[in-house]
Amino acid sequence: MAHSALPAFDIEHTLAQLTLEEKASLLSGSDFWHIPAIDRDGVHVPSVMLADGPHGVRKQKAAGGEAALSESWPATCFPTAAALGSTWDTDLVTRVGKALGRESRALGLTVLLGPGANIKRDPRCGRNFEYLSEDPVLSGDLAAALINGIQSQGVGASLKHFAANNQESDRMRVSAEVDERTLREIYLASFERAVKGSNPWTIMCSYNKINGTYSSQNRWLLTDVLRDQWGWDGMVVSDWGATRDRVAGVAAGLDLEMPSTGGRTTALVIEAVQNGTLDETLVDIAVRNVLTLVSKSGAAQDAAKDTADAGASTAGAPTTPVDHAAHHLLAREAAAAGAVLLRNEPVGPDAIPLLPLKDRDGVAIIGEFARTPRYQGAGSSQVNPTEITSALDAFADAWGTAIPFAPGFALAEGPQTDATPDATPDALRDEAVAIASAAHTVVVFLGLPAAAESEGYDRDHISLPADQLALLDALAMVNERIVVVLSNGSAVTLSEWQHHAPAVIEAWLSGQAGGGGIVDLLTGVTSPSGRLAETLPVRLEDVPSFGAFPGELGTVRYGEGIFVGYRHYDLRDAPVAYPFGFGLTYTTFTIDDVEAVAKGSGADAQVTVTATVTNTGHRKGAEVVQVYIGDPESVVARPVRELKGFARVALEPGESRAVTLELDSRALAYWHPTLERWTVEGGTFTVEVGTSSRDIAATISIEVEGEDLSSPLSELSTMGELRAHPATGADGERLCAGLDATMLSMVDDFPLVVLSDFGMIPGLGREEIAELIKKSKA
Ligand code: BGC
Repeated sequence: MAHSALPAFDIEHTLAQLTLEEKASLLSGSDFWHIPAIDRDGVHVPSVMLADGPHGVRKQKAAGGEAALSESWPATCFPTAAALGSTWDTDLVTRVGKALGRESRALGLTVLLGPGANIKRDPRCGRNFEYLSEDPVLSGDLAAALINGIQSQGVGASLKHFAANNQESDRMRVSAEVDERTLREIYLASFERAVKGSNPWTIMCSYNKINGTYSSQNRWLLTDVLRDQWGWDGMVVSDWGATRDRVAGVAAGLDLEMPSTGGRTTALVIEAVQNGTLDETLVDIAVRNVLTLVSKSGAAQDAAKDTADAGASTAGAPTTPVDHAAHHLLAREAAAAGAVLLRNEPVGPDAIPLLPLKDRDGVAIIGEFARTPRYQGAGSSQVNPTEITSALDAFADAWGTAIPFAPGFALAEGPQTDATPDATPDALRDEAVAIASAAHTVVVFLGLPAAAESEGYDRDHISLPADQLALLDALAMVNERIVVVLSNGSAVTLSEWQHHAPAVIEAWLSGQAGGGGIVDLLTGVTSPSGRLAETLPVRLEDVPSFGAFPGELGTVRYGEGIFVGYRHYDLRDAPVAYPFGFGLTYTTFTIDDVEAVAKGSGADAQVTVTATVTNTGHRKGAEVVQVYIGDPESVVARPVRELKGFARVALEPGESRAVTLELDSRALAYWHPTLERWTVEGGTFTVEVGTSSRDIAATISIEVEGEDLSSPLSELSTMGELRAHPATGADGERLCAGLDATMLSMVDDFPLVVLSDFGMIPGLGREEIAELIKKSKA
């Protein structure tokens, strides 16, 4: 790794020197952002700093313990996770991570607080813009990519919010009631994949409870699963203020509590050790993890030292040069890559799609977001950008001329209200309609106002604001050539308005250079290559958690279980507005020569999937090959298909490339609820290769040799279980030979002892049952 450890920082030696009081002090922040220093004879533990994340650095200018979201040092605001998730591009996301790492290091940070790997359970979650996907494989791989980039620069990441923090409502108290299979296969799986793919220096535990126990004091979560089962050895930090019982937290595996509690919880830890309720070895484990983090922070320490030398007035300012212009360009590239072209219908007598825009003449721009971009979400992730490119700026830059523009609607927040202080909604709409009627093509920038979604609260609907919909209705009366560009951090419904817009780009909250990235797509400098990382539902009422979000009376029940996102819609074959994985582009692709080969068995099973992708169109572009696995026959309910691998392939016109994806047994396995481990059940699996969960290019059946899952029979086993058991199947057939189909269906569900007591099966008495049980154990 490209960083130097602190010279001669010996963790074990330091630990051995520390008093109980000093050790306890290291387990809580010294202020809002720092781990405390210890400096005395023979012991030197430098203070290190953590700061938000995840799509830019938010290092506050004011020193110390402020809770407010005060002004922070300028930093590049990259596209939010909603947009990065839609890139499906691990290389690009790693490059963004590297840039984040460089900026963090220049600002003297040891840890950047991100990325978030929570699953988008429900589109109403106010913080979905900070999360990557509804699918754990996509979320986990992209989180790992970002972490690998950040940590390559000698700065640690903090994978958050672990776990089951899938809503903002009541997030500091609510208990997510989730069965273990669902946790393992969906909510923990996203974190597990990220942990194993990147080894983050730190993990941030969430505010909420899981099945009644706060994450911050959940030993099963923080120690059994995270460390013992996943083999992770980093430092767990609490979400800010997530600790309810600090002593229980230390015992559970919560190493560092943030922010400072002014010594209150340090005293509790000391007292618990002294009165014997907390074993000091547990304190040592936590301190060792904190010291290990400190020892990794050499590069950040150097930067911090330079900063201190530079004098108080600039304390905390960047000291290492960062190429902000290059980072702005990278943010622009990522914004374009994360935007999803949802629609591009042919229009007019020539039946030509509206995008890319053919020439600048006759184009009009409407919508306040073109002038005042909404490029990031509110809350702890809010970055002070180094610059902002609006779409209007980028258009003027690309075309060398001002384009007719009308704001069309006003936003409650932002400078635009100053620019149009007296404009009524009607006046704004009339002005926009006038411009639209004179234009050949209209590009309309719509989206969610900042107040609609934020950290800290959830939405109660997923529609665009009424004034924007009214504007679109009015524009459609005068011009049929309408392109809509959306800026929103979480899904909105399109069914009530998209018939007005032959072309739609979902740009998400695309960072400080989003305007440039979007204009690159609109003008055809870049072909869209973003793919949906979440299903866009037809109606809010269709979403799997509709009636169970955000819960009530302190509890939210994840009743939909593993059927989250496309797993739900595909199970029901229910209509969606746009499926998971979907996205159009300006060229065309084929996927051929699809093969899938299984080898090995059980936990050693592997599947190799190959395919050839060809760009058959006339423009450069990228296809995302998606591999879904299904297990149509299983003793547990399984999704029709689950994403298990993907590859983004960028191709010149006419170019082909072979893609190979190697999948391990986890691609086939489910979490067995009673065996409490991953299990591969033998039989036929489907391997689907496609470009969305609803657009499958080829389906291949593979035979996989599974584990022997047959457990011994008991007196309460049913006739069906007896007949399915490899050792007693033939006996079952013999015993049931005289039964018609109706009777057979009925007795299959009866426990053996009941059948025997009822005398329903001739030849099945207590003695025979004992013999059959013995046989099943042999
Ligand atoms: C958020 C975290 C953030 C922390 C520090 C919390 O409220 O949930 O994501 O890293 O504050 O700002």
